[in-house]
Amino acid sequence: MTTSGTAGQSLGVAQAVVAPLTRAAIFVVASVNPGEASRTAVRALAADLAALVRAVGTRDLEGGLSCVMGIGAGVWDRLFGAPRPAELHPFREIRAGSRHAVATDGDLLFHIRADRVDLCFELAGAIMGRLGSAASPVDEVHGFRYFDTRDLLGFVDGTENPAGQAAIEAALVGAEDASFAGGSYVIVQKYLHDLGAWNRLSTEAQERIIGRTKLSDIELDDAVKPSSAHNALTTIVEGGDEIQILREGMPFGRAAHGEFGTYFVAYARSPRPIEQMLMNMFVGRPAGNYDRLLDFSRAVTGGLFFVPSATFLEELATPPGPARSETEGSLGIGSLKGEPRHE
Ligand code: HEM
Repeated sequence: MTTSGTAGQSLGVAQAVVAPLTRAAIFVVASVNPGEASRTAVRALAADLAALVRAVGTRDLEGGLSCVMGIGAGVWDRLFGAPRPAELHPFREIRAGSRHAVATDGDLLFHIRADRVDLCFELAGAIMGRLGSAASPVDEVHGFRYFDTRDLLGFVDGTENPAGQAAIEAALVGAEDASFAGGSYVIVQKYLHDLGAWNRLSTEAQERIIGRTKLSDIELDDAVKPSSAHNALTTIVEGGDEIQILREGMPFGRAAHGEFGTYFVAYARSPRPIEQMLMNMFVGRPAGNYDRLLDFSRAVTGGLFFVPSATFLEELATPPGPARSETEGSLGIGSLKGEPRHE
């Protein structure tokens, strides 16, 4: 997958950000340990990630294995130096009344997807094995598809996601930050639901919170949809155009422990729309008119990462010097990338 600049030039091959829906996913957040050896090991893993995905994915070609690697603001300079993605910054926490979008630790995100959980598990193990003592796990969540892509609240999730070219336009950085074209910003949040309290609501009350019907997944008519409905507060229109993001979240949980969650994952070419949606949900639009989903859902993690293009990751393997520019020449992309050195 490539992005197009204004002149229609190919600017960089993206990681598998815009990937088909799968039955399973594993989300790993890890921190990079101190020391030069850790830096070297993370860069080596990044350069080799595509090969690792190929090696594991080939064991079942129908399994649709993919992996997206994201890099947090706190570790970017140490790993890659200048330049830096224009809008990379730490996750901005939000506090409003009892509602709290927490910011939690983590330097690296691995979003692993496949139709078989064993493929995801094998790749997660291979990645962590390759990182060895260079990184420490912070969080690991195993997501699964729930019936007809519903969340554990019982509503179909993902209906209004952009598809095809619209998904690429929404998710991938273009000519606005040419050194990082083909990259993406991703925000992740782990939400835990109070399913007992949610299920004590009537179906109609739940539908007014989400803004869609539960069984048939039809959007509520504007005449009955409250301005606090989830799909109202997360709709952002600028200059007459709706600003879209690409949501790839998944349910997770531990039934015996009464844990019912949504791992929220959203990709966008800029973190701003996702941050604006979070403000609308947590603070309210206008303030106080917040998302009632949050009366039943608590965010327990929050992170923002930049997902460099696959081209960027692969080039980490290329040694500096003349050999590097020869490689760039053969790929035919060197002249379009500005002057990134990344070493
Ligand atoms: C507790 C976690 C969440 C749950 C269970 C949830 C669930 C849903 C559901 C059921 C829908 C309606 C179907 C659809 O179009 O996908 C929806 C829509 C949407 N959600 Fe969420 N969501 C959550 C968190 C978030 C967050 C944190 C954001 C953004 C920061 C967000 C952004 C959106 C957007 C943009 C839409 C589509 C609105 C439209 O155009 O109609 N969601 N969500």
